[in-house]
Amino acid sequence: MKQQWQALRAHQSEVGTKSIAGLLENPARAAEFSARHGDMLFDFSKTTLDAKALSHLLDLAKQADVEARREAMFSGAKINETEGRAVLHTALRNLNAAVKVDGEAVMPPVRATYARMAEFAHDLRRGKICGQGGAYTDVVNIGIGGSDLGPAMAYLALAPYADGPRCHFVSNVDGAHIHDTLRGLNPETTLVIIASKTFTTIETMTNAETARAWMAKKVANPAAQFAAVSTAADKTAAFGIDAARVFGFDDWVGGRYSVWGPIGLSLMLAIGPAGFDDFLAGGADMDAHFRHALPSQNLPILLALVGIWHNQICGYTTRAVLPYEQRLTRLPAYLQQLEMESNGKRVSMDGADLVEHSGPVVWGEPGTNGQHAFYQLIHQGTRVVPCEFIVTRQGHEPELAHQHLLLVANCLAQSEALMRGRTLAQATEIMAKKGLTGAELDRQARHRVFPGNRPSTTLAIPRLTPFALGQIIALYEHRVFVEGVILGLNSFDQWGVELGKELAVALQPILERRASADDKDASTRMLVEYLTAAPNA
Ligand code: F6P
Repeated sequence: MKQQWQALRAHQSEVGTKSIAGLLENPARAAEFSARHGDMLFDFSKTTLDAKALSHLLDLAKQADVEARREAMFSGAKINETEGRAVLHTALRNLNAAVKVDGEAVMPPVRATYARMAEFAHDLRRGKICGQGGAYTDVVNIGIGGSDLGPAMAYLALAPYADGPRCHFVSNVDGAHIHDTLRGLNPETTLVIIASKTFTTIETMTNAETARAWMAKKVANPAAQFAAVSTAADKTAAFGIDAARVFGFDDWVGGRYSVWGPIGLSLMLAIGPAGFDDFLAGGADMDAHFRHALPSQNLPILLALVGIWHNQICGYTTRAVLPYEQRLTRLPAYLQQLEMESNGKRVSMDGADLVEHSGPVVWGEPGTNGQHAFYQLIHQGTRVVPCEFIVTRQGHEPELAHQHLLLVANCLAQSEALMRGRTLAQATEIMAKKGLTGAELDRQARHRVFPGNRPSTTLAIPRLTPFALGQIIALYEHRVFVEGVILGLNSFDQWGVELGKELAVALQPILERRASADDKDASTRMLVEYLTAAPNA
């Protein structure tokens, strides 16, 4: 692989400064540097990638054995080597798959749980299953990380399809979160879902206790208004949740990949089993594309290669995800976990230090809001931020179609502005027309220069349906997978979150003044002192 990395670096030093606008003067470029799958269009022509760079990148993917690793993942091999686990979230969206782990067929229990979930959702939505005060009006999902971000993001994204109970999501251990969420809800018509793969996560279990106490104030049998989603049946039973309301899954579903199964229960309750099936079908459709399309036409592979080009080769350390779709407001946060928890590693699978940098910092906000906030830096800051735009042809509000066109115009304008920029000569001409002259003209013009040649990609889809959302999430999952394989790391563990958890457990008794802070560093001792001082002290 060393040879491929070197070839890419050598090539980047030749083409890295090439003008993207100049490249696009080639009339074939837009078609050649874009790919389609079904109705989806991925345009990466507004980057400095040229044919040679792409061919080196495809070669890199080949040398990394992406295709063999991909088949290993789909077939149930234990590719999460540090935890000795298979990685089979793809099986959750392909219920007819015949997958074995350790020689055992894993799908029969998955199908059985799915059938129970669908029946539960169906019965709850039509009022057959109800709370002490009648049909459920509200569902509170208590979970964090992958047990929150997926369903919370998808619930907002698919609001036009939600015709079930209202869903609320509590994740933070900050009591303000659960306090503000429960305020105004009626315990008698609220279902609480405790979503935790391990059923040990301190934030989730603390919030679960708070919810139970809240419920107990008004409901005679609070446990009857709880459901749980977890791999730990013993712990859900110990919490007092009826086994009929517990939906289990296996350790081969990573937290950040879990929205497709029982962790998606709140979403299924909101949009109904049929809508949820469409969501799964979108994911399965992207899986099939990922498995069978040629690498040069393969959306997840191309997205990954553009990512590697920008991060490892060009040295751009962050990546902005900018959906021009208000309902994807939580997508950047979802992708932050997906990408940074998966590929934010420092050693390769065999424990050696990584040769290349790990994954980028992922961040973003929906357009056009971001335009009036941080785009200033994207356009004129000294560092380059590759931007990944997402845009839909059609909204869900036909009466507001003119607003959707304005949204689309803004999205296209941003990628064009990033690419074209504005030269000093152009800025000077504009300011001269306003009557400025001499040194002041020069000074003012210089503030209005945009360097341009800033790369972006655009993912365009017809409409944000459950199917399309499924495609998008699976697209990004596989992109992360391909990047991880190329970097040689394990995308499926998350040891980096452990140390802070352990230290928090040790700090709690110190904050409660039950233990001494003497063995803590001076900074921590000072902060403990400050934070435990009597109010107004
Ligand atoms: O702390 C990280 C993490 O383990 C995530 O990977 C996971 O999604 C989240 O915590 C929640 O874990 P659980 O579902 O076990 O409560």
